[in-house]
Amino acid sequence: MHGNTTNTNNSENTLLQGITGYKNLNRFSVAPMLDWTDRHCRYFHRILTKNSLLYTEMVTTGAIIHGKGDYLAYSSEEHPVALQLGGSDPMALATCAKLAQERGYDEVNLNVGCPSDRVQNGRFGACLMGDANLVADCVKAMQDSASIPITVKTRIGIDEQDSYQFLCDFIDTVSTKSECEMFIIHARKAWLSGLSPKENREVPPLDYPRVYQLKRDFPQLTMAINGGIKTLEEAKHHLAHLDGVMIGREAYQNPTILTHVDHQLFDPQLPVTDPIDAVRKMYPYIEAELSKGAYLGHITRHMLGIFQGIPGARQWRRYLSENAHKAGADLAVVEQALQFVIRD
Ligand SMILES: Cc1cc2nc3c(=O)[nH]c(=O)nc-3n(C[C@H](O)[C@H](O)[C@H](O)COP(=O)(O)O)c2cc1C
Repeated sequence: MHGNTTNTNNSENTLLQGITGYKNLNRFSVAPMLDWTDRHCRYFHRILTKNSLLYTEMVTTGAIIHGKGDYLAYSSEEHPVALQLGGSDPMALATCAKLAQERGYDEVNLNVGCPSDRVQNGRFGACLMGDANLVADCVKAMQDSASIPITVKTRIGIDEQDSYQFLCDFIDTVSTKSECEMFIIHARKAWLSGLSPKENREVPPLDYPRVYQLKRDFPQLTMAINGGIKTLEEAKHHLAHLDGVMIGREAYQNPTILTHVDHQLFDPQLPVTDPIDAVRKMYPYIEAELSKGAYLGHITRHMLGIFQGIPGARQWRRYLSENAHKAGADLAVVEQALQFVIRD
């Protein structure tokens, strides 16, 4: 149902030719990022781009099943939106996938890429790459309990297990023992010890050709590439080899890139989003959230980079950073900050 939101119904659109439904949904996505892609962030990103698939932060099965808060909360405006799960117990993952489907998520993604110690202690994340059969069991259990797409986000290897054959065996096992059809590949391996999660996003070298080769060797699978992609020109280049592109840090730190995604990657007839309009389109949401007790700064922190490269951007950022966390801060703070970038 929500997959249709990515369709433009423009039969002349050559960019979309041959890409339908599910594949189209994965053509461009914003990566799951803990503490960053929370629901305020996703609401803002959705204003910037209607077609991109948005991922939640990783949510553990333990938090969903035993936690006190509602870890599945999101706004209906966020569609299409995918829930990323962290876990390795097939039963728990199945329970969470079912809940996600009931709550209307468009996809559930299993995290097989996070190398943090905390995640490894829970025996999930990137270390799962070492147990392809368990990943297949997890995906299968989720598929048995939910009919929405179940996808896997993974790396190209872990530790010394970094040969192309290892990667092929992993993908082969998971895709044949479960019916997983969609993989997102972060094009670098992870070191499970010795590097922090941040270093693990920077130190191991990117290997895009390896991901292209993987797609050639598994043409029946839908594959998106992730890691180090900074421009839509680069994204277009990758799309010549793969079904989808996922961008993380650049989309978050420089959300202006998202204002061009619909136009450049989906349909040239779709507009580029105006950043000032986008900020003002957040106002009803901000007001509603403030009235429920949210802090302005928790929402505006995701909007700081929207004017990158525009005169006044630094003052916008500084004004919001200094004022949005003050008690009682409201929309007047945002409107005041906006004056720094408005030129008549
Ligand atoms: C702050 C931060 C938090 C992240 N949290 C997650 C996460 O929860 N789940 C996940 O699969 N990857 C997570 N990642 C990794 C990103 O999804 C992505 O794979 C990585 O940043 C590489 O893509 P990029 O170069 O476009 O940022 C995180 C990255 C950052 C910067």
